[in-house]
Amino acid sequence: MFPITWNQDDSHQISIGGIPIRDLAERFGTPLYVMDYATLADRLTRYRAALATLDPPGLPYFAGKAFLCRAMAGLLEDLGIGLDVVSGGELATAVAGGFRPERAIFHGNVKTPEEIAYGLEVGVGLWGVDSLDELEALSRAASHFGTQARVVLRLTPGIEAHTHAFIRTGQFDTKFGLAMSEGIAEEAVARALALPGIQLVGFHAHIGSQILEIAPFLANLERLLSFSRVTLSTHGFWPEILDVGGGLGVRYTAEDDPPALETVVEGMRQVIAEYTPAGMAAPQVLMEPGRSVVAEAGVTLYRVGAIKRVPSGKRYVAVDGGMGDNIRPALYQAAYQAVVDGKAPGADGFVGALAGRYCESGDILIPEARWPADLEVGDLVAVLVTGAYNYAMASNYNRVPRPAVVAVHQGEAKVWVQRERWEDLYRLDGAWERWERGANG
Ligand code: LLP
Repeated sequence: MFPITWNQDDSHQISIGGIPIRDLAERFGTPLYVMDYATLADRLTRYRAALATLDPPGLPYFAGKAFLCRAMAGLLEDLGIGLDVVSGGELATAVAGGFRPERAIFHGNVKTPEEIAYGLEVGVGLWGVDSLDELEALSRAASHFGTQARVVLRLTPGIEAHTHAFIRTGQFDTKFGLAMSEGIAEEAVARALALPGIQLVGFHAHIGSQILEIAPFLANLERLLSFSRVTLSTHGFWPEILDVGGGLGVRYTAEDDPPALETVVEGMRQVIAEYTPAGMAAPQVLMEPGRSVVAEAGVTLYRVGAIKRVPSGKRYVAVDGGMGDNIRPALYQAAYQAVVDGKAPGADGFVGALAGRYCESGDILIPEARWPADLEVGDLVAVLVTGAYNYAMASNYNRVPRPAVVAVHQGEAKVWVQRERWEDLYRLDGAWERWERGANG
């Protein structure tokens, strides 16, 4: 739940990456996204090492949608890790960060013609194709560019992982992918093998996110391998790559108990051995972790702006951020935990909502947080496990600038993303101009 370098001393003062968070808040302002480099590097290298134990060695492709900026892309390039992008913007960010696109997979259920052209132009290494329409469009574009697009088809296995309905994607009734049912996926394989400009290399299925059990991951791989056995007999096609997506959960609160990555990989090894037909090479496994790499590396710092009591006796602790920097509680009823800097939680504390600053009653980050009895305006609050899908999903609602992202390591802080200023909020606005036709048309 805590970043690796999290420390709280005898006076309850918190530091991350060897820097007291009160120094970070003073230097960079609040709200502030803090990223612990040690945790990021640990998770990434752990994925790399775990997948490398497979034969052939597997590879992690970090899911950029969870958290992406130029520095993150540069870190991935440095560590030899792949990247899953879902838009031209993510790809452009990665390229600007020094990431080589041949190590990227381009996913997404709608890729615009401009995005396809851009991906082909910079030489994206792998395409996750989501529909027959996209397959045709990619084929036309690749032929036009005189190149071959290496493709994995996104399939839906018909697996219902136990996670929030908004982040569940493995079931048949979904906007994503091609169903391994009623011949839908088989038809796509036949098309992919026939179309010019398309080099089919394998299959992909992502079943959902924040999954806390092992079984759905193994069932997903089983379904992909079973389907591959079918395409081997019907089309003589056996995949070189099976991309099993992301989805491994993390501990947001003490109630979450995610499986260890190594246990999942060990399970996958057995499934591959069991389902690979004699005489065929085992496919290379790709994983696309997002949350399990960045979530626990991130902590968001806020300052308490107001503490109030309502007639029922309930208390609200309002801070200077909220749903603009963390939409997850409002969108998914996501649970978080907060820690106050420099104050003991104590038995004499109180329970109250951690509320945001946005003009929505639903802007509550934690409905029932525990607070120290001596909590005051100006105190610094750290909300844990906010590295994934927080900065990535941040908005400018209420015209509030998005916070900075600061990475910390061994006493040194680096700004990965600057805090927006008020000017940034209207930088793209046109000015008011009177209509030529006048007020009455
Ligand atoms: N690969 C594909 C094809 C995906 O669609 C996703 C996530 C991932 C990988 C990474 O999944 P992860 O390892 O992060 O679970 N905004 C939601 C999560 C949406 C996930 C969308 N796809 C949230 O904040 O919980």
